[in-house]
Amino acid sequence: MPNIIFVKPDGSEHTIAVENGTTVMEAGRDANLGIEGTCGGCLSCATCHVIVDAAWFAKTGAPSEDEVDMLDLAFGLSETSRLGCQIEMSDDLDGLKVAIPDDI
Ligand code: FES
Repeated sequence: MPNIIFVKPDGSEHTIAVENGTTVMEAGRDANLGIEGTCGGCLSCATCHVIVDAAWFAKTGAPSEDEVDMLDLAFGLSETSRLGCQIEMSDDLDGLKVAIPDDI
């Protein structure tokens, strides 16, 4: 099972082990880390915004056009911002580190 390391706005790190196929949004939401995922992962909110650690950004793949459009609505956008519902975990992403923005 791959691990995701979430960094909360207060700087605390939380490592969550998930099944392959689980999205970053689902993992963060289910662990009550402050990710809402209001739309359930259908690309119509942006409450699953995460900032991917720069060392991991390329590995998560390129966001789709629809994701980029929705990201424009997110607060605190960064160059490595992604929507957590669009990152599906796999063994290749074991150890993925993402920060949860302060104001999602
Ligand atoms: S959960 Fe709504 S866009 Fe990701």
